[in-house]
Amino acid sequence: MTQEPLQTFLDVATLAATAGGTVLKYYWGNLQDIQEKGRSGDLVTEADKASEAAILEVLKRHVPGHGILTEESGSLGDTSSRYLWAIDPLDGTTNYAHQYPAFATSIALLIDGVPQVGAVYNPFHDELFQGATGHGATCNGTPIKVSQTNSLDQSLLVTGFAYDRRETPDNNYAEFCYLTHLTQGVRRGGSASVDLAYVACGRLDGYWERGLSPWDLAAGVVLVQEAGGKVTAYDESPFEIKSGRILATNGFLHSSLSKALLETPPLSSW
Ligand code: IPD
Ligand code: CA
Ligand code: CA
Repeated sequence: MTQEPLQTFLDVATLAATAGGTVLKYYWGNLQDIQEKGRSGDLVTEADKASEAAILEVLKRHVPGHGILTEESGSLGDTSSRYLWAIDPLDGTTNYAHQYPAFATSIALLIDGVPQVGAVYNPFHDELFQGATGHGATCNGTPIKVSQTNSLDQSLLVTGFAYDRRETPDNNYAEFCYLTHLTQGVRRGGSASVDLAYVACGRLDGYWERGLSPWDLAAGVVLVQEAGGKVTAYDESPFEIKSGRILATNGFLHSSLSKALLETPPLSSW
């Protein structure tokens, strides 16, 4: 079987990301239906659902034989396929529901479990981030690169807090405080795919988070790697998408950020 070039799949990812983004633009500031999905703070709106429907329409038309994993519908299509699309139709729902403009559609293709194509589109800022293994990464068509910041005390980082933060002591609060102490700042962006896109284009120097799903991470991982950055587990062992845990940096900061995360003192010692 001949393999289609990644560029063809990146074109499909881009069509899907922008189709979802058009829907998000339409509902912006006009939400009627905001619900909690079980866990407190985990929202879903009619914009999440309509964006997902628009994205699925594109994928079903262009890659009908592939598997699909989406945040709102779960597993679809041929789940035995080597090709799996990981879809977040609205990454940053809490931001979106409050009209805070940090959110995106996030579309990735994993081949044999490895993220190889990613498109992240923020329709509010009209920023489209694209990447494919071996093809580099771009923002609105212009090549992007990670920053060159090489010390934590010169760095601006970003992180996030998962929806189980009220139930688990592994809630990232201590790490957030410790890294805030060691750096020029730690942002809480509220959209994992945008956080990763911003590391890829050098606006931020590093990102870590736990409790994430493949659809939050897969597209952004490709962007960071293709922009020259590094993606691993917190302890610098190979990144496992199913772990939900990620450390993504410009590469220069990677070891020092990993060390700081692993040596974070408990909050009670502050
Ligand atoms: C969330 C965002 C947020 C991260 C959460 C994610 P959602 O995705 O990416 O930044 O901290 O853990 O679940 O729910 O807005 O699609
Ligand atoms: Ca998400
Ligand atoms: Ca989402």
